[in-house]
Amino acid sequence: MTVTPPMTGKIVLITGGTGGIGRAAAIGLASMGARVGITGRDRARAERAAAAIASQSGNPAVNVFVADMSSQTEVRRLAGEVLSAYPRLDVLLNNVGGFSAHRHVTADGLEHTFALNHLAPFLLTSLLLVRLMASAPARVVTVSSGAQGMGKIDFDDLMGERKYSGQRAYSQSKLANVMFTYELARRLEGTGVTATVLHPGLTSTAFSAEDPARAMAPVVVVLRPFMRSPELGADTAVYLSSSPEAEGVTGRYFANRKAKKSHKSSYDTATTARLWQVSADLVGLPGDTRH
Ligand SMILES: NC(=O)c1ccc[n+]([C@@H]2O[C@H](COP(=O)([O-])OP(=O)(O)OC[C@H]3O[C@@H](n4cnc5c(N)ncnc54)[C@H](OP(=O)(O)O)[C@@H]3O)[C@@H](O)[C@H]2O)c1
Repeated sequence: MTVTPPMTGKIVLITGGTGGIGRAAAIGLASMGARVGITGRDRARAERAAAAIASQSGNPAVNVFVADMSSQTEVRRLAGEVLSAYPRLDVLLNNVGGFSAHRHVTADGLEHTFALNHLAPFLLTSLLLVRLMASAPARVVTVSSGAQGMGKIDFDDLMGERKYSGQRAYSQSKLANVMFTYELARRLEGTGVTATVLHPGLTSTAFSAEDPARAMAPVVVVLRPFMRSPELGADTAVYLSSSPEAEGVTGRYFANRKAKKSHKSSYDTATTARLWQVSADLVGLPGDTRH
């Protein structure tokens, strides 16, 4: 008897699927029969990753999208290409994230960590919601970090203009991932689209390797033996993207497949609504509309 893989007929978009956790998640979800779209900044690298994902999963249905997600113009173009390519979208896995020890700004003049880690998934998700809602039940899964627990949303200095540290900017962006998810879940009530967020665990990837200051390099050398494989790092993301058990679960933070408490401030609905509005203003979307 042939068994149909559980994600057959589903379409999944994974940002940052060329390496690390995103690529391992792509292999996991393609192995379950999903068509998987991955994104990366460089076409040749993304094509190579797609070929490896197809061969390791035994599923040739892997597509490549190219975009630098620190640029809002590119995120908008990416969303347009995804909407043209995919008549349905069952899962959006917001995975791209980075760390910068020193402050630098994007093409839009925004602090890079906040723009890439928070505003990019905020904008991409907003632009793809129409397709996710039409495909319901559908899921938005966002990769945050345990660093969210040390985060603080500094509304007076979101872009770190007055005070910047890589750790502070990273923790703020990862707390923003959690707040975005909780607010999104509230806004999507009754639509059949769920929103969950997760900590993948300390995972052996190329994370922070691009930081010119290489500030995390000594820490990574020490911690590498204790880090998870990318497959294990992707496990909770794959679980939330595909498991029947996670169907209908929304507005929760997960680690190791278990719902966990996130930073106290993430449960403050006035703060999450304020962050939503500020984010909408920064990407030029109306913020007050309910979906
Ligand atoms: N590794 C960990 O221990 C750990 C722990 C907690 C949370 N996380 C979170 O897990 C997520 C994935 O991290 P990872 O460890 O897998 O990182 P990684 O190995 O550095 O992979 C990052 C992925 O994002 C893409 N990317 C980076 N900058 C981009 C940009 N400007 N535009 C578009 N794509 C970009 C890369 O693609 P290209 O280079 O091909 O463009 C790559 O596919 C991040 O959100 C991170 O914050 C990781």
